Amino acid sequence: MKNIDSYTHVRGESVYLDDIPVVNGTLYAAVFDSPVAHGKIKSLDIREAAAMHGVVKIFTAKDVPGDNQIGGIIPDEELLASTHVHFCGMPIALVVAETDEAARVALKKIKVVIESLPVITDPREAKEKGELIIPSRTFQIGDTINAWHQCEYVFEGRADTNGQEHLYIETQGAYSLPQENSAIRIYSSTQGPTAVQRTTARVLNIPMHQVEVDTTRLGGGFGGKEDQATTWGVMCALATYHLKKPVKYSLQRMEDMRMTGKRHPYSSDFKIGLNKDLKIVAYEATFYQNAGAAADLSPAVMERTLFHCTNSYFVPNVKATAYSCRTNLPPNTAFRGFGGPQGMFVIEAAIAKAADALGISASVIQQKNLLQTGDEFPYGQKAESEANECWDKAVELYDLEKLQKEISDFNHSNKQYKKGMALMPICFGISFTKTMMNQARALVHVYTDGSVGVSTGAVEMGQGVNTKMLQVATNIFSIDPAKVKINSTNTYRIANTSPSAASATADLNGKATEIACKEILKRLKKVAAEEFKTSEENIDLKDEWVYANGEKTMWEWKRLVFETYFRRISLSEHGHYTPPDIHYDLKKEKGHPFAYHVYGTVIITVTIDCLRGIYEFDSVKVVHDFGNSMNTIIDIGQCEGGIVQGIGWMTMEEIVYDKEGKLLSNALSTYKVPDIYSVPKEIDIHFLATQKDNLAIFRSKAVGEPPLLYGIGAYFALRNAVKAFNPSADIPYDAPMTPEKVLMSLYHPFKK
Ligand code: MTE
Ligand code: HPA
Ligand code: MOS
Repeated sequence: MKNIDSYTHVRGESVYLDDIPVVNGTLYAAVFDSPVAHGKIKSLDIREAAAMHGVVKIFTAKDVPGDNQIGGIIPDEELLASTHVHFCGMPIALVVAETDEAARVALKKIKVVIESLPVITDPREAKEKGELIIPSRTFQIGDTINAWHQCEYVFEGRADTNGQEHLYIETQGAYSLPQENSAIRIYSSTQGPTAVQRTTARVLNIPMHQVEVDTTRLGGGFGGKEDQATTWGVMCALATYHLKKPVKYSLQRMEDMRMTGKRHPYSSDFKIGLNKDLKIVAYEATFYQNAGAAADLSPAVMERTLFHCTNSYFVPNVKATAYSCRTNLPPNTAFRGFGGPQGMFVIEAAIAKAADALGISASVIQQKNLLQTGDEFPYGQKAESEANECWDKAVELYDLEKLQKEISDFNHSNKQYKKGMALMPICFGISFTKTMMNQARALVHVYTDGSVGVSTGAVEMGQGVNTKMLQVATNIFSIDPAKVKINSTNTYRIANTSPSAASATADLNGKATEIACKEILKRLKKVAAEEFKTSEENIDLKDEWVYANGEKTMWEWKRLVFETYFRRISLSEHGHYTPPDIHYDLKKEKGHPFAYHVYGTVIITVTIDCLRGIYEFDSVKVVHDFGNSMNTIIDIGQCEGGIVQGIGWMTMEEIVYDKEGKLLSNALSTYKVPDIYSVPKEIDIHFLATQKDNLAIFRSKAVGEPPLLYGIGAYFALRNAVKAFNPSADIPYDAPMTPEKVLMSLYHPFKK
């Protein structure tokens, strides 16, 4: 089944925030943000700006009627700076004008005097100075201290990964409208409508029932709109609250890049010990997460780094500690993988370092240590592993031996061009790591003409979740897809939603939809059973016809629906789902946090031009554990998109702040993302179509985030290609591996 949005997407008819027709009298907002990264506000002069043509009103912290606070996990982030600024781009004032242009012209007339305070951009420096967002956490299994002496080989090192700009095509934005009795409706480009509703209520000091948030779809979120879409919804609502007027704010690209947080950069130390058989006996890691100036989602992201610090390997003795370090950068936030990729990069670096020193291919160590079913993760959950199946299938299907030979032949016969290859097994836990968030609801209405309306807490952001929701309803009722409509995500229809995140949206909301549909189906079947004088188990619905005792009846779906309505039986249901058996003990750092894990293996090859340092990825060959995929077209799309996004993070996307905390890579001219020319020439995806019982919807497996992890293999493929040219290259484990860095390492072995 095609993505149900493809028709309107192709015709340019899909509705995003900026496509919503604006109401007469709509005003436009723009934020005045801090030009410095840390300081005390001495004076703020808005008089000249406020007097400008078209300007209606300028709001500051003083105008917040409730709590001037948007922190989701920890209340440490003001909506509008009151006395201090903590990062370049921190909102200070909100200009509201009759036009977008007038608002932005007025911004330039606001004068602020800020007394500068010391700026920290480096997480290790923050840790030294005691600037931590939360106390550190440590995951432990076995006993590393006593394990080192069992090791034949021990290696230590450092590994760094940089941040990543979400670069959703649709920038952040919101549109709020006054409703009767002081209620407010907000159209928001958010992954978390409830977060927008909750925070608006808190900032305006009104009950949540006064705030309706509605989201049709996003032009991409990638985690960047899990928490950080809230700001803009609340800004608009603040203006609507005071002015009783519709207010819209759709950020310009540079505003978005400057004011919002990104993937967390990490700096980490590792120590790995192996025995004679190359089994990893012990692993220690210390992670310094660059959280930015406020908590945002950093504590949860940090936790997932720890959960995934051993990737898909079994290590009997592990000690991993993470620090969430407060710096003067925009608060960093969720980004596809949610801290997992940063943790996995470090153990891959440790394995690569060991392999280099031992003069073997990293794949030998990787393969020997893959998780087996029953192995325990450092957090106590036992693996139901597909790691070996994926690896073995990839080696066989893509003929690893032949690939290796081709690459070594190529490297022997070429001077200017060198090829490199890497394998990367992945393992990703599915569920929100905060157990409470694993719940979802769906509201299903069957109308008297047989058409069906479905509302859930799921937000469509390009990942195809609406298509999957439609498939659930269609499948259970056995009706034509054209009979089902998936409605916008709305806090008045579905309350207390978790954000669409953690790759769990289809699982959680799909199960809730399944529950609601099955309940309605039960009622329908009861009516049919009475009519055809049989029991409910003997009633079937197939392709819009009712079957009794295996025989086709005279009743079509529509007739059945109407007869049920005629008998005054409800054709609506609100389903609630929460996955069973997940729990976590924060004191012990042990539990069963994930419903299940997703596995896979990639083989990546790259060719570098040793004169210029530029490179091309020849092929990306994947065996991925999709479970029983619900929709292969969508799932392939998720895989391809995730892989390219992961490769971008590891290779070309380079966020640069100067020492003063100012973003230098602040536009698409200075921040390079993968384009059609830089994507791999070939991406092969093989479905490891497992049919095991799991907690996923229809035994499919969540697919949103895991494929991004394959991109990590790109970094190691590049390293291997450089080594083929310059075996003594001393390359720090420091991603992204940009063409500049490749060139440097080809000719200038440098130490960091
Ligand atoms: N795919 C598209 N096209 N656009 C997106 O914004 N977000 C990713 C992933 N795939 C995203 C995407 C992220 S970060 C997550 S958590 C999941 O989709 C969320 O959706 P799911 O839970 O339905 O997989
Ligand atoms: N993943 C993604 N988003 C989240 C999570 C998580 O585990 N927890 C809170 N938000
Ligand atoms: Mo995805 S980072 O969980 O929105």
